Amino acid sequence: MSDLFQEKSETYDTNERIKKRSTAIGECILKNVALNKQMHILDFGAGTGLISTQIAPYVRQITAVDISESMLQKLISKPELKGVVKVLCHDLTTTPTGEKYDLIISAMSLHHIEDTNNLIKQFSAHLKEGGKIALSDLDTEPGTFHTPGSEGIFHFGFDRHELSEILMMNSFENIQFFTAYNEIKEDFLYPIFLVVATK
Ligand SMILES: C[S@@+](CC[C@H](N)C(=O)[O-])C[C@H]1O[C@@H](n2cnc3c(N)ncnc32)[C@H](O)[C@@H]1O
Repeated sequence: MSDLFQEKSETYDTNERIKKRSTAIGECILKNVALNKQMHILDFGAGTGLISTQIAPYVRQITAVDISESMLQKLISKPELKGVVKVLCHDLTTTPTGEKYDLIISAMSLHHIEDTNNLIKQFSAHLKEGGKIALSDLDTEPGTFHTPGSEGIFHFGFDRHELSEILMMNSFENIQFFTAYNEIKEDFLYPIFLVVATK
């Protein structure tokens, strides 16, 4: 499988737009999800760990899953994640990790996965009973957020109602949406949601 983030990984952490967005998403998770030092968390599409680094001080362990070797290389080089994070270069949509988690977080990765229903089903299968998800991505957008021709973009954001239906079909309850960030790009506003739900 080709690494679509190979080039991006070099400048990902120094991109001010990405830094602001990730900080806002991390803060929204910290504000709306109760974390504790017993928790084992899965960060799906963890990338360079911009979200994991914000969550790490409050939990026991994070399993960072991504299919991009180059993004995960950046993540494992971060001293603040040493001893907390375990890395899996692994496609969880086809191959289970073999573990169950207290919470699954994901930021800006859902739109890279074609079959959202299957992904949510996999999340459910990877959660302990009563476990939670906290997923963040773009609200529906006109297809202008990414550079034209970008590979691996399967969704121009998500409709909150449609995503709720998928979550309910997969037995999630207490579904709550928050607006984690309003990103402005070329004078256009792209709201970014965080959805929290319980299995
Ligand atoms: C836009 S980046 C977001 C990274 C990080 N969550 C953040 O907010 O900074 C999307 C990430 O999803 C990953 N990704 C794409 N498809 C994936 C899959 N099937 N399984 C796991 N990760 C995937 C990409 O490799 C990339 O690192």
